[in-house]
Amino acid sequence: MVHRVQASIDLKALQHNFQVARKHANAKNVAAVIKANAYGHGLEQAASALTDADLFGVTDVHEAVTLKQFGTGKPILVLQGLIKADDLHLVAEHGFQLVVHSSEQLADLDDILSAEKVKTPLTLWLKMDSGMGRLGIAPSAYANTYRALLGRPYVGSIIMMTHLANASLPDSPLNLRQLEAFREAETLLDNENPATSIPNSAGVLSDLPVTCDWVRPGIMLYGSSPFGYEEEALRRDNFHLKAVMTLKARIIAVKDLKKGDNIGYCSQFVCPNDMPVGIVSIGYADGYPSNAPNGTPIVVNGIKTATVGRVSMDMLAVDLSNIPDAKVGDLATLWGQELSLDEVAAKTGILSYNLTCSISRRVKFTYTD
Ligand SMILES: Cc1ncc(COP(=O)(O)O)c(C=O)c1O
Repeated sequence: MVHRVQASIDLKALQHNFQVARKHANAKNVAAVIKANAYGHGLEQAASALTDADLFGVTDVHEAVTLKQFGTGKPILVLQGLIKADDLHLVAEHGFQLVVHSSEQLADLDDILSAEKVKTPLTLWLKMDSGMGRLGIAPSAYANTYRALLGRPYVGSIIMMTHLANASLPDSPLNLRQLEAFREAETLLDNENPATSIPNSAGVLSDLPVTCDWVRPGIMLYGSSPFGYEEEALRRDNFHLKAVMTLKARIIAVKDLKKGDNIGYCSQFVCPNDMPVGIVSIGYADGYPSNAPNGTPIVVNGIKTATVGRVSMDMLAVDLSNIPDAKVGDLATLWGQELSLDEVAAKTGILSYNLTCSISRRVKFTYTD
Protein backbone atom coordinates (compact mmCIF):
# COMPACT_ATOMS: atom_id res chain seq x y z
CA MET A 1 0.00 0.00 0.00
CA VAL A 2 1.25 3.49 -0.83
CA HIS A 3 1.03 5.80 2.13
CA ARG A 4 0.08 9.43 1.71
CA VAL A 5 2.61 10.62 4.26
CA GLN A 6 5.66 8.76 5.52
CA ALA A 7 7.97 9.55 8.39
CA SER A 8 11.12 7.50 7.94
CA ILE A 9 13.17 7.28 11.10
CA ASP A 10 16.88 6.66 10.68
CA LEU A 11 18.01 4.97 13.88
CA LYS A 12 21.66 5.00 12.78
CA ALA A 13 21.45 8.78 12.63
CA LEU A 14 20.01 8.76 16.14
CA GLN A 15 22.94 6.66 17.35
CA HIS A 16 25.38 8.91 15.52
CA ASN A 17 23.89 12.04 17.11
CA PHE A 18 24.13 10.40 20.53
CA GLN A 19 27.86 9.90 19.94
CA VAL A 20 28.13 13.58 18.97
CA ALA A 21 26.55 14.43 22.32
CA ARG A 22 28.94 12.13 24.12
CA LYS A 23 31.92 13.66 22.34
CA HIS A 24 30.91 17.24 23.20
CA ALA A 25 29.78 16.47 26.74
CA ASN A 26 32.03 17.71 29.45
CA ALA A 27 30.65 14.93 31.64
CA LYS A 28 31.02 11.23 32.21
CA ASN A 29 27.36 10.33 31.87
CA VAL A 30 24.89 11.07 29.10
CA ALA A 31 21.17 10.84 29.80
CA ALA A 32 19.17 10.59 26.57
CA VAL A 33 15.98 12.64 26.79
CA ILE A 34 13.33 10.58 25.01
CA LYS A 35 10.22 12.08 26.57
CA ALA A 36 7.12 12.80 24.51
CA ASN A 37 7.49 9.63 22.45
CA ALA A 38 11.14 10.52 21.76
CA TYR A 39 10.12 13.95 20.51
CA GLY A 40 7.61 12.29 18.20
CA HIS A 41 10.04 9.74 16.74
CA GLY A 42 8.84 6.64 18.62
CA LEU A 43 9.74 5.79 22.20
CA GLU A 44 10.35 2.07 21.85
CA GLN A 45 12.48 2.34 18.72
CA ALA A 46 14.51 5.24 20.06
CA ALA A 47 15.13 3.50 23.39
CA SER A 48 16.13 0.27 21.66
CA ALA A 49 18.57 2.11 19.40
CA LEU A 50 20.19 4.23 22.11
CA THR A 51 22.12 1.35 23.61
CA ASP A 52 24.96 3.59 24.78
CA ALA A 53 22.78 5.93 26.85
CA ASP A 54 23.46 5.88 30.58
CA LEU A 55 19.86 6.74 31.45
CA PHE A 56 16.61 7.71 29.75
CA GLY A 57 14.69 10.86 30.65
CA VAL A 58 10.90 10.86 30.23
CA THR A 59 8.21 13.27 31.32
CA ASP A 60 6.04 11.41 33.82
CA VAL A 61 5.48 8.04 35.45
CA HIS A 62 3.15 6.95 32.68
CA GLU A 63 5.88 7.39 30.10
CA ALA A 64 8.30 5.72 32.52
CA VAL A 65 6.07 2.64 32.94
CA THR A 66 5.62 2.38 29.16
CA LEU A 67 9.37 2.63 28.62
CA LYS A 68 10.13 0.07 31.33
CA GLN A 69 7.94 -2.45 29.52
CA PHE A 70 10.27 -2.30 26.54
CA GLY A 71 12.91 -3.87 28.75
CA THR A 72 16.00 -1.85 27.91
CA GLY A 73 17.16 -2.33 31.48
CA LYS A 74 18.45 1.22 31.72
CA PRO A 75 17.64 3.60 34.56
CA ILE A 76 14.66 5.85 33.88
CA LEU A 77 14.35 9.40 35.18
CA VAL A 78 10.96 11.09 35.58
CA LEU A 79 11.88 14.63 34.60
CA GLN A 80 8.73 16.46 35.60
CA GLY A 81 8.67 14.84 39.02
CA LEU A 82 5.41 14.19 40.79
CA ILE A 83 2.13 15.15 39.19
CA LYS A 84 0.31 13.69 42.19
CA ALA A 85 1.63 12.05 45.34
CA ASP A 86 0.10 8.76 44.28
CA ASP A 87 2.71 8.50 41.51
CA LEU A 88 5.17 7.56 44.21
CA HIS A 89 3.76 4.04 44.43
CA LEU A 90 4.87 3.43 40.86
CA VAL A 91 8.20 5.17 41.44
CA ALA A 92 8.92 2.87 44.39
CA GLU A 93 7.64 -0.25 42.66
CA HIS A 94 9.73 0.26 39.51
CA GLY A 95 12.73 1.98 41.06
CA PHE A 96 12.42 5.02 38.82
CA GLN A 97 14.66 8.00 39.44
CA LEU A 98 12.65 11.10 40.20
CA VAL A 99 13.08 14.85 39.97
CA VAL A 100 12.07 16.62 43.18
CA HIS A 101 11.46 20.29 42.56
CA SER A 102 9.68 21.75 45.55
CA SER A 103 10.03 21.41 49.30
CA GLU A 104 6.32 20.49 49.58
CA GLN A 105 7.15 17.30 47.75
CA LEU A 106 9.26 16.14 50.70
CA ALA A 107 6.07 15.73 52.73
CA ASP A 108 4.56 13.61 49.96
CA LEU A 109 7.68 11.48 49.87
CA ASP A 110 7.57 10.99 53.65
CA ASP A 111 3.85 10.16 53.58
CA ILE A 112 4.03 7.50 50.94
CA LEU A 113 7.53 6.08 51.01
CA SER A 114 8.96 4.07 53.80
CA ALA A 115 12.18 2.16 53.93
CA GLU A 116 10.18 -1.11 53.77
CA LYS A 117 8.27 -0.11 50.68
CA VAL A 118 11.33 0.98 48.73
CA LYS A 119 13.25 -2.16 47.80
CA THR A 120 16.34 -0.25 46.73
CA PRO A 121 16.81 3.28 48.07
CA LEU A 122 15.82 5.81 45.39
CA THR A 123 18.00 8.10 43.34
CA LEU A 124 16.44 11.54 43.41
CA TRP A 125 17.38 14.54 41.27
CA LEU A 126 16.90 17.69 43.31
CA LYS A 127 16.18 20.52 40.93
CA MET A 128 17.30 24.07 41.57
CA ASP A 129 15.52 26.98 39.95
CA SER A 130 18.69 28.92 39.25
CA GLY A 131 16.96 31.30 36.85
CA MET A 132 14.60 29.40 34.57
CA GLY A 133 11.64 30.60 36.63
CA ARG A 134 9.86 27.31 36.23
CA LEU A 135 10.40 24.26 38.43
CA GLY A 136 12.93 24.04 41.24
CA ILE A 137 14.05 24.94 44.74
CA ALA A 138 15.29 28.50 45.24
CA PRO A 139 19.12 28.70 45.42
CA SER A 140 18.93 30.09 48.98
CA ALA A 141 17.01 27.04 50.23
CA TYR A 142 18.76 24.49 48.10
CA ALA A 143 21.60 23.19 50.30
CA ASN A 144 19.36 22.76 53.34
CA THR A 145 16.70 20.98 51.31
CA TYR A 146 19.36 18.71 49.86
CA ARG A 147 20.65 17.76 53.31
CA ALA A 148 17.15 17.24 54.69
CA LEU A 149 16.29 14.93 51.84
CA LEU A 150 19.55 13.01 52.08
CA GLY A 151 18.68 12.01 55.64
CA ARG A 152 15.48 10.21 54.61
CA PRO A 153 15.64 6.39 54.83
CA TYR A 154 14.18 5.84 51.37
CA VAL A 155 16.86 7.98 49.67
CA GLY A 156 19.96 6.36 48.22
CA SER A 157 21.57 9.33 46.50
CA ILE A 158 20.65 12.78 45.29
CA ILE A 159 21.89 14.32 42.07
CA MET A 160 22.04 18.11 42.01
CA MET A 161 20.39 19.44 38.88
CA THR A 162 19.39 22.66 37.23
CA HIS A 163 18.16 23.65 33.79
CA LEU A 164 19.58 26.53 31.76
CA ALA A 165 16.96 28.88 30.32
CA ASN A 166 19.16 30.51 27.71
CA ALA A 167 21.77 27.96 26.73
CA SER A 168 20.59 28.37 23.13
CA LEU A 169 21.56 32.05 23.46
CA PRO A 170 25.18 31.55 24.52
CA ASP A 171 25.84 35.29 25.01
CA SER A 172 23.00 35.71 27.48
CA PRO A 173 24.32 36.84 30.89
CA LEU A 174 21.69 34.65 32.53
CA ASN A 175 23.76 31.57 31.68
CA LEU A 176 26.65 32.57 33.90
CA ARG A 177 24.30 33.75 36.66
CA GLN A 178 22.60 30.35 36.66
CA LEU A 179 25.93 28.50 36.69
CA GLU A 180 27.14 30.69 39.53
CA ALA A 181 24.05 30.03 41.67
CA PHE A 182 24.52 26.32 41.08
CA ARG A 183 28.23 26.43 41.95
CA GLU A 184 27.52 28.25 45.20
CA ALA A 185 25.18 25.48 46.32
CA GLU A 186 27.68 22.88 45.17
CA THR A 187 30.32 24.49 47.36
CA LEU A 188 27.99 24.44 50.36
CA LEU A 189 27.41 20.75 49.74
CA ASP A 190 31.09 19.93 49.29
CA ASN A 191 31.08 17.44 52.16
CA GLU A 192 28.24 15.47 50.62
CA ASN A 193 30.14 15.29 47.32
CA PRO A 194 26.98 15.24 45.17
CA ALA A 195 26.84 14.24 41.52
CA THR A 196 25.63 17.11 39.32
CA SER A 197 23.68 17.63 36.13
CA ILE A 198 23.24 20.83 34.15
CA PRO A 199 23.13 21.00 30.36
CA ASN A 200 20.57 20.17 27.71
CA SER A 201 21.61 19.99 24.04
CA ALA A 202 22.38 23.69 23.77
CA GLY A 203 24.49 23.55 26.91
CA VAL A 204 26.34 20.50 25.61
CA LEU A 205 27.17 22.14 22.27
CA SER A 206 27.88 25.65 23.56
CA ASP A 207 31.18 26.96 24.84
CA LEU A 208 29.71 27.70 28.25
CA PRO A 209 31.93 26.68 31.17
CA VAL A 210 29.75 23.76 32.20
CA THR A 211 31.31 20.84 34.02
CA CYS A 212 29.19 18.24 35.76
CA ASP A 213 28.60 14.51 35.98
CA TRP A 214 25.51 14.20 33.83
CA VAL A 215 24.34 15.93 30.66
CA ARG A 216 20.76 15.67 29.38
CA PRO A 217 20.61 16.15 25.61
CA GLY A 218 17.28 15.87 23.80
CA ILE A 219 16.77 17.78 20.56
CA MET A 220 20.29 17.27 19.21
CA LEU A 221 19.77 13.49 19.30
CA TYR A 222 17.09 13.96 16.66
CA GLY A 223 19.38 15.95 14.39
CA SER A 224 18.21 19.48 15.08
CA SER A 225 20.53 22.26 16.13
CA PRO A 226 19.40 23.74 19.44
CA PHE A 227 20.62 27.08 18.08
CA GLY A 228 18.22 27.01 15.15
CA TYR A 229 18.96 28.00 11.59
CA GLU A 230 19.62 31.74 11.60
CA GLU A 231 23.36 31.58 12.18
CA GLU A 232 25.18 29.45 9.67
CA ALA A 233 28.00 28.52 12.04
CA LEU A 234 25.50 27.11 14.54
CA ARG A 235 23.45 24.99 12.14
CA ARG A 236 23.17 21.23 12.53
CA ASP A 237 25.81 20.46 9.87
CA ASN A 238 28.37 22.43 11.83
CA PHE A 239 27.96 19.92 14.65
CA HIS A 240 27.77 16.95 12.23
CA LEU A 241 24.24 16.17 13.35
CA LYS A 242 22.17 14.01 11.01
CA ALA A 243 18.43 14.21 10.43
CA VAL A 244 16.63 11.35 12.14
CA MET A 245 13.14 11.98 10.73
CA THR A 246 12.50 12.38 7.03
CA LEU A 247 8.95 13.42 6.27
CA LYS A 248 7.69 12.79 2.76
CA ALA A 249 4.37 13.00 0.97
CA ARG A 250 3.18 12.38 -2.57
CA ILE A 251 2.29 14.79 -5.30
CA ILE A 252 -1.32 13.93 -6.13
CA ALA A 253 -2.01 16.55 -8.82
CA VAL A 254 -0.03 18.85 -11.09
CA LYS A 255 -1.69 21.92 -12.53
CA ASP A 256 -0.63 24.62 -14.95
CA LEU A 257 -1.97 27.76 -13.37
CA LYS A 258 -2.17 31.13 -15.07
CA LYS A 259 -1.08 34.55 -13.95
CA GLY A 260 -3.71 35.85 -11.49
CA ASP A 261 -5.04 32.40 -10.50
CA ASN A 262 -5.33 31.94 -6.76
CA ILE A 263 -4.26 28.90 -4.76
CA GLY A 264 -6.15 27.46 -1.79
CA TYR A 265 -8.14 29.09 0.99
CA CYS A 266 -8.35 32.86 1.31
CA SER A 267 -6.23 33.40 -1.80
CA GLN A 268 -3.09 33.39 0.31
CA PHE A 269 -1.15 33.04 -2.95
CA VAL A 270 -2.02 34.60 -6.30
CA CYS A 271 0.15 33.44 -9.21
CA PRO A 272 2.41 36.32 -10.33
CA ASN A 273 2.79 34.58 -13.72
CA ASP A 274 1.87 31.33 -15.41
CA MET A 275 3.33 28.51 -13.36
CA PRO A 276 3.10 24.76 -12.72
CA VAL A 277 1.94 23.87 -9.21
CA GLY A 278 1.96 20.51 -7.44
CA ILE A 279 -0.60 19.47 -4.85
CA VAL A 280 1.09 17.47 -2.09
CA SER A 281 -0.84 15.04 0.09
CA ILE A 282 0.09 16.42 3.50
CA GLY A 283 -1.69 18.99 5.63
CA TYR A 284 -2.10 20.17 9.16
CA ALA A 285 -4.04 17.03 10.16
CA ASP A 286 -0.79 15.18 9.53
CA GLY A 287 1.07 17.61 11.74
CA TYR A 288 2.50 19.94 9.11
CA PRO A 289 2.23 23.48 10.50
CA SER A 290 -0.90 25.28 9.34
CA ASN A 291 0.80 28.65 9.59
CA ALA A 292 3.54 27.81 7.07
CA PRO A 293 3.74 30.94 4.94
CA ASN A 294 4.15 31.15 1.18
CA GLY A 295 7.78 30.30 0.51
CA THR A 296 8.26 27.61 3.16
CA PRO A 297 11.03 25.36 1.78
CA ILE A 298 10.16 21.95 0.40
CA VAL A 299 12.16 19.59 -1.81
CA VAL A 300 10.73 17.83 -4.88
CA ASN A 301 12.84 15.29 -6.75
CA GLY A 302 15.95 16.58 -5.02
CA ILE A 303 15.31 20.21 -5.99
CA LYS A 304 14.49 22.84 -3.41
CA THR A 305 11.35 24.86 -4.01
CA ALA A 306 8.64 26.45 -1.87
CA THR A 307 5.05 26.14 -0.73
CA VAL A 308 2.43 28.42 -2.21
CA GLY A 309 -0.92 29.16 -0.61
CA ARG A 310 -2.37 28.25 2.73
CA VAL A 311 -1.84 24.76 4.15
CA SER A 312 -5.11 22.78 4.15
CA MET A 313 -6.09 19.88 6.40
CA ASP A 314 -4.83 17.19 4.03
CA MET A 315 -2.80 18.97 1.37
CA LEU A 316 -0.63 21.86 0.42
CA ALA A 317 0.60 23.34 -2.83
CA VAL A 318 4.15 23.67 -4.09
CA ASP A 319 5.72 25.80 -6.79
CA LEU A 320 7.06 23.54 -9.58
CA SER A 321 8.41 26.34 -11.78
CA ASN A 322 11.97 25.04 -11.49
CA ILE A 323 10.96 21.34 -11.54
CA PRO A 324 9.05 20.99 -14.81
CA ASP A 325 9.43 17.20 -14.87
CA ALA A 326 7.64 16.70 -11.55
CA LYS A 327 4.61 14.47 -11.91
CA VAL A 328 1.84 12.82 -9.96
CA GLY A 329 3.28 10.11 -7.72
CA ASP A 330 6.59 11.88 -7.10
CA LEU A 331 7.59 12.41 -3.49
CA ALA A 332 8.05 15.77 -1.82
CA THR A 333 10.29 16.06 1.24
CA LEU A 334 8.95 18.31 3.96
CA TRP A 335 12.10 17.90 6.05
CA GLY A 336 14.93 15.43 6.50
CA GLN A 337 18.60 15.13 5.56
CA GLU A 338 18.07 17.02 2.27
CA LEU A 339 16.04 19.80 3.92
CA SER A 340 16.83 20.86 7.45
CA LEU A 341 14.00 20.68 9.95
CA ASP A 342 15.56 23.79 11.44
CA GLU A 343 15.08 25.72 8.21
CA VAL A 344 11.38 24.85 8.19
CA ALA A 345 11.19 25.79 11.87
CA ALA A 346 12.80 29.16 11.14
CA LYS A 347 10.43 29.89 8.26
CA THR A 348 7.28 28.87 10.11
CA GLY A 349 8.25 30.23 13.54
CA ILE A 350 7.48 26.81 15.03
CA LEU A 351 10.20 25.19 17.11
CA SER A 352 11.79 22.07 15.63
CA TYR A 353 10.72 20.27 18.84
CA ASN A 354 7.14 21.23 18.13
CA LEU A 355 7.31 20.14 14.48
CA THR A 356 8.38 16.55 15.17
CA CYS A 357 6.19 16.19 18.27
CA SER A 358 3.15 17.23 16.20
CA ILE A 359 3.32 14.52 13.54
CA SER A 360 -0.03 12.82 13.83
CA ARG A 361 -0.91 9.18 14.20
CA ARG A 362 -2.21 8.83 10.67
CA VAL A 363 1.32 9.27 9.32
CA LYS A 364 3.05 5.97 8.48
CA PHE A 365 6.27 5.56 10.47
CA THR A 366 9.02 3.30 9.21
CA TYR A 367 12.35 2.57 10.92
CA THR A 368 15.73 1.69 9.48
CA ASP A 369 18.72 0.59 11.50
C1 LIG B 1 15.03 19.09 32.50
C2 LIG B 1 15.34 18.89 31.06
N1 LIG B 1 16.56 18.48 30.72
C3 LIG B 1 16.90 18.28 29.43
C4 LIG B 1 16.00 18.51 28.42
C5 LIG B 1 16.43 18.30 26.99
O1 LIG B 1 16.46 19.56 26.34
P1 LIG B 1 16.87 19.70 24.80
O2 LIG B 1 15.86 18.94 24.04
O3 LIG B 1 16.80 21.16 24.54
O4 LIG B 1 18.23 19.13 24.67
C6 LIG B 1 14.73 18.95 28.74
C7 LIG B 1 13.77 19.22 27.66
O5 LIG B 1 12.86 19.98 27.72
C8 LIG B 1 14.38 19.15 30.09
O6 LIG B 1 13.18 19.58 30.45
